[in-house]
Amino acid sequence: MSTWAVTEFVLRWIHFLAGITWIGLLYYFNFVQAPFMAGAGGPTKLEVTTKLLPRALWWFRWGAMVTAIAGVLILWGRATNSGWGYFGTHQGIMISIGSLLGLIMWFNVWFIIWPNQQVIIAANEEAMAKGQAPQGLGNRPRVAFLASRTNTMLSIPMLFFMAASSHLPW
Ligand code: HEM
Repeated sequence: MSTWAVTEFVLRWIHFLAGITWIGLLYYFNFVQAPFMAGAGGPTKLEVTTKLLPRALWWFRWGAMVTAIAGVLILWGRATNSGWGYFGTHQGIMISIGSLLGLIMWFNVWFIIWPNQQVIIAANEEAMAKGQAPQGLGNRPRVAFLASRTNTMLSIPMLFFMAASSHLPW
């Protein structure tokens, strides 16, 4: 087994672990936490947003980062080891589509969901300290929610193309 083959195997394994951490939390936010929060009372909402959410978002965004870095390293290694012609093969085309979808999702996490959630968490911390409802959030909760829903939808074709690259008979 070549050094690259071993490296790629380890990178792919890291990619899986980080990927399930990320997408598992994405599904938790969308299928469990959001419906729960919709029916929760004010004090519960404050407690979840200030105490549970920061911890969940830490694993969520760093899961996304490690997944993306490992994925891009695999792609880069493939290109340098097999030549750029790899991207013209069935496998290369499928993995490029999957990777593009994954990178759009990564962008949504780091540049839309997380910046908005940081403001939401800070406003909730202030509200908790002052014993009032969170103020001045504008459309931030809505934007973060829509980006999260978009990622949930994108995860379906993303994982299809990710796995189709090696396992869809062609
Ligand atoms: C963020 C951007 C992402 C990039 C750039 C990326 C890239 C890659 C690459 C290059 C491979 C190797 C494909 C092969 O072995 O031929 C791969 C495999 C895989 N990725 Fe991703 N990926 C990303 C996100 C994700 C996410 C979020 C998941 C969800 C869990 C995921 C799940 C998988 C799985 C399950 C495989 C194994 C497929 C197989 O062996 O057939 N990836 N990915």
